[in-house]
Amino acid sequence: MNYEELKALDEQYVMQCYGRFPVGIDHGKGATVWDGEGKEYIDFTSGIGVCSLGYADEGWVQAVSDQAAKLGHISNLFYSQPYAQVAQKLCTRTGMSNVMFANSGAEANEAMIKLARKYSYDKYGKGRGTIITLHNSFHGRTITTLAATGQDKFHDYFFPFTEGFRYADANDLDSVEAVAGHDVCGVMFELIQGEGGVLPLDQEFVTKVAELCAKRDWLLLIDEVQTGVGRTGSLFAFQQYGIQPDVVSFAKGIAGGLPFGGVMANEKCRNVFTAGTHGTTFGGNPIAAAAANYVLDTIDDAFLAQVQEKGEYLRSQIEAMDLPCLGATRGMGMMIGIEVKGDKTNKELATKLIESGLLILTAGPGLRLLPPLVATKEEMDKGLAILKNTLG
Ligand SMILES: Cc1ncc(COP(=O)(O)O)c(C=O)c1O
Repeated sequence: MNYEELKALDEQYVMQCYGRFPVGIDHGKGATVWDGEGKEYIDFTSGIGVCSLGYADEGWVQAVSDQAAKLGHISNLFYSQPYAQVAQKLCTRTGMSNVMFANSGAEANEAMIKLARKYSYDKYGKGRGTIITLHNSFHGRTITTLAATGQDKFHDYFFPFTEGFRYADANDLDSVEAVAGHDVCGVMFELIQGEGGVLPLDQEFVTKVAELCAKRDWLLLIDEVQTGVGRTGSLFAFQQYGIQPDVVSFAKGIAGGLPFGGVMANEKCRNVFTAGTHGTTFGGNPIAAAAANYVLDTIDDAFLAQVQEKGEYLRSQIEAMDLPCLGATRGMGMMIGIEVKGDKTNKELATKLIESGLLILTAGPGLRLLPPLVATKEEMDKGLAILKNTLG
């Protein structure tokens, strides 16, 4: 099937709710992918932060195939080794206490919101279900996670939205205090607002909110769906902010390309979810869990140090190009935002770059890079050369 046939088939049978670029990807290796006609692209997207180990990593393929040949699914009514091991690895490396598995970022955040509300209900009774989130955040596409998302453009069409969210300004403690009340049970935020434009929160703000949460027994709920699993150069971004959250959500990169996610809770919250209070059929699926075990084993300290180095390399090279349409870079590790200047929009620049063989993302008004964490120097240099030649 050539590209035109694929596009026609998709348009006939698939709901057109994504603004897609005109490329049909067929296969990949490392941080390089090829379309159906054999054209090569350097990938600085990782499938929006999912393919943390790139494409067709041999160990990942082996782990997934071995588990598929053994037990593809069994349900949460029975114990299964792969996901108990993922939970152990996550807790051991983060200081968290236990884990509930889900299948996507939105679902993980739903679990985090439910956990916060139940924690508060168990302790204080009804009337304390409000969660403070930040303007410009993004927490998912379910009705409740859309409500949690602090951007008006996501609050259309699907009324009624879930109640119980109030929005404060990022990096402004007064704004958090201004929306606080006796009905609050938690504060939820991304440490780097990803979809909002790759905007890291200030250390001081994060520390102060953590202190406020501890003082008022609000749960500190950190959405690490995009920042987690090595993306920022530590296993989770909160580890670089020196805070110990009550609950952390994760998804995207955890299983290197399979749907998987969940929440980790600290000791205070370990018994909030009791039998029957939360669940999902696919959560903890053994194949996805086997993939996650492989990803977590691969992302050791030496690997994380390389993520830091690669991120710094990409940013310094982009800044040194001094292109008229690009401004400063920002972010942590291999989660990089680039300011867009001039009369072309980020979408126009991304379209040109993709045509030229570099897959790239937008975020807020800027460009965003989320390359596979395994991208080689040669792949990064190829991508950087396309960026320079196309936009220079
Ligand atoms: C910070 C954050 N939270 C939640 C989500 C939603 O994740 P998913 O698309 O897997 O539901 C995303 C997705 O981009 C995200 O970046």
